[in-house]
Amino acid sequence: MEMLEQQRENWGSRGGFILAAVGSAVGLGNLWGFPYKIYSYGGGAFLIPYILAIFIIGIPMLAMEFSLGHFTQRSAPGAFGSANRKFEFVGWWSIILGFVIITYYPVILGYCFSFLWLSIKGIFNGGSLPWAQSGVEGVRKAEEFFYDTYLAHKPGSFSLGAIRWNIFVPLVVAWLSMYLCICKGVKLVGKIVWLTVPLPWLMLLILAVRGLTLEGSIEGLVFYLNPSWEKLAEPTTWRFAFGQVFFSLSLAFGVMVTYASFLHKKSDINNNAAIIGLSDFATSFVAGIAIFATLGGMAFATAKAGSYVPVDKVVSGGPGLAFVAFPYALAQLPYSAWFSFIFFFALVTLGIDSAFSITESILTSVVEKTRWSRSVVLIIMSFVGLLSGIVYTAAGGGLNWLGTIDDFINGTWGIAFVGLLECIVLGWIYRLDRLRVHANERSDFSFGKWWNYLIRIIIPIVLGTLFFWSMFDDFSDKGFFIKAEKFNIPNIVGLSVVAVAPILAIVLGIIGSPFQKTQNLKCVKGYTSGWAGLILALISTLLMVLLMTIALPIHLTQILTIVAVLSSLSALIMTNYCLDNCDIAGNRASASARIGGIVAILNISVIAALTLIRLNNYVKDNGKFTAADIPKELTGVSYIILGVVSLLIIGGLGWCFYKAIVASGKQEQTPQLPQE
Ligand code: PFF
Repeated sequence: MEMLEQQRENWGSRGGFILAAVGSAVGLGNLWGFPYKIYSYGGGAFLIPYILAIFIIGIPMLAMEFSLGHFTQRSAPGAFGSANRKFEFVGWWSIILGFVIITYYPVILGYCFSFLWLSIKGIFNGGSLPWAQSGVEGVRKAEEFFYDTYLAHKPGSFSLGAIRWNIFVPLVVAWLSMYLCICKGVKLVGKIVWLTVPLPWLMLLILAVRGLTLEGSIEGLVFYLNPSWEKLAEPTTWRFAFGQVFFSLSLAFGVMVTYASFLHKKSDINNNAAIIGLSDFATSFVAGIAIFATLGGMAFATAKAGSYVPVDKVVSGGPGLAFVAFPYALAQLPYSAWFSFIFFFALVTLGIDSAFSITESILTSVVEKTRWSRSVVLIIMSFVGLLSGIVYTAAGGGLNWLGTIDDFINGTWGIAFVGLLECIVLGWIYRLDRLRVHANERSDFSFGKWWNYLIRIIIPIVLGTLFFWSMFDDFSDKGFFIKAEKFNIPNIVGLSVVAVAPILAIVLGIIGSPFQKTQNLKCVKGYTSGWAGLILALISTLLMVLLMTIALPIHLTQILTIVAVLSSLSALIMTNYCLDNCDIAGNRASASARIGGIVAILNISVIAALTLIRLNNYVKDNGKFTAADIPKELTGVSYIILGVVSLLIIGGLGWCFYKAIVASGKQEQTPQLPQE
């Protein structure tokens, strides 16, 4: 380990690491992904699961990935491989999903380059922008420009037309820029992000203020901050909110494990995770204000022209949203070409560091495994990524394919499932407490035992429930695979991409693993509680199978469900107790205890998912929450959400920085030991 630390490159400073990790997290996902997901999947209702996911899943898992990367000093496959060689595939799975993202993310970056170029041209053309017009015409023009003139997009179509060279060329520019940023290694990355993180923030603030001063902006804010309860009962709202948290924090894609592996020996872990999680949330939230206030302004413009369109329909939703709303907002500013130039420049810088963080983690993983030359792998990878991205540059259905693949990777079928697997492997198979102690030893503040229970029990149950809920929901939809007597090609392709990833990952994990085991454990303990837990968990599984396959009288169903839940819960308590005690004593828990715990978690998740489906049906049948018109003013709940979010962001970040300052003060006071 010591050797590795000496050999491995590292970030220049703590600031360098934080900014690089913030740089990876804060990206187009915040300005492009977050608003469009809110617009398409639930409006204000999206915010509630999103906030829950940031705090219950995002920040604790970020600390887990940092600790794993820092402790093992390896990229994701190596880190999981050194925990247990059989689980190297988990790391590869996340890397492969990262690769899928890197096929389309640079395309969106390419859109930004195009708008940047058009803004530069605008500056030299006396300030005129090709999408700008005033009043209601401006709303139509912004939409027409992006979808028709730029993309040659056909709504709802998945057929691919000719390559659009005006998208392909900026795509090449995007890949070239990413290549140049990482070809010199992580030290340079640590420096570039000092520019690429603060500048976009400044621009975002300007746009938020401009959006809020547009007439009618309140209607957009109401849509953003007022949860419609019937949407909260839908699985899609939850799955996309949770998926967006993974995407936005670059969680479970192997990036944060890799970045932390370059972190200096004594670096903080817990506080960094909290700072990064909160900053990312703050950026998305402010971007949401900027976009939705603007959409409110657009709706007002339509009303003024006598053809009122409500805010939830004023532009088409989906992945094009940001490229209509932001250009419109920019066109409303004085010196709009200059502001456009600065904004798209900021967007490009924001996207580049996220894009190259994925490339970097794939690169490090491949180089660690194969020992091939870094520069050769980088060139090959860039070409493969570029060529795969061509699909999305096609006229007609290019953007629809981009949205579909993004939905599959980031909507629980892909990334949240990998997150679930990570927690199960590290929580039940690894010695999780080792990671907590490792993180605490070098952090400004410590995580208590509750963190273990979050990673080992709560997060897997939450993600497991979401996974089964989405699965039952999708498969009960008759049109999921076959629609109007035709194969539903986008769903089939999306699901295949997600399904191929684990197969490939297993193959990569099996072939020639160079990773050594790093766990040093005394002996195996906990047979009795392990077997008892496993048997209880299996009884619960059996009962569930029975309940799902045989129609029993209602009271019997209820009794058996309660027995199934109780036996799974008891299994969970027993096996968790066994793992806890083994961890403290440095022993290895018996296989029966680990398997029993995992089976119990899956049982509870399935039961919770089935209960949610029942609840959802009940709500629908009884018309408890019916889709209401968007209110005209912010409601009490909106103000509560606004207050809670501001408190969490400002208070949370303030507290983190205070802890960092106190810790650095203590370090300065501690006399340095003479070097040996
Ligand atoms: N977090 C980035 C964003 O919000 O734009 C996107 C991203 C970067 C996703 C790195 C995944 C990843 F591994």
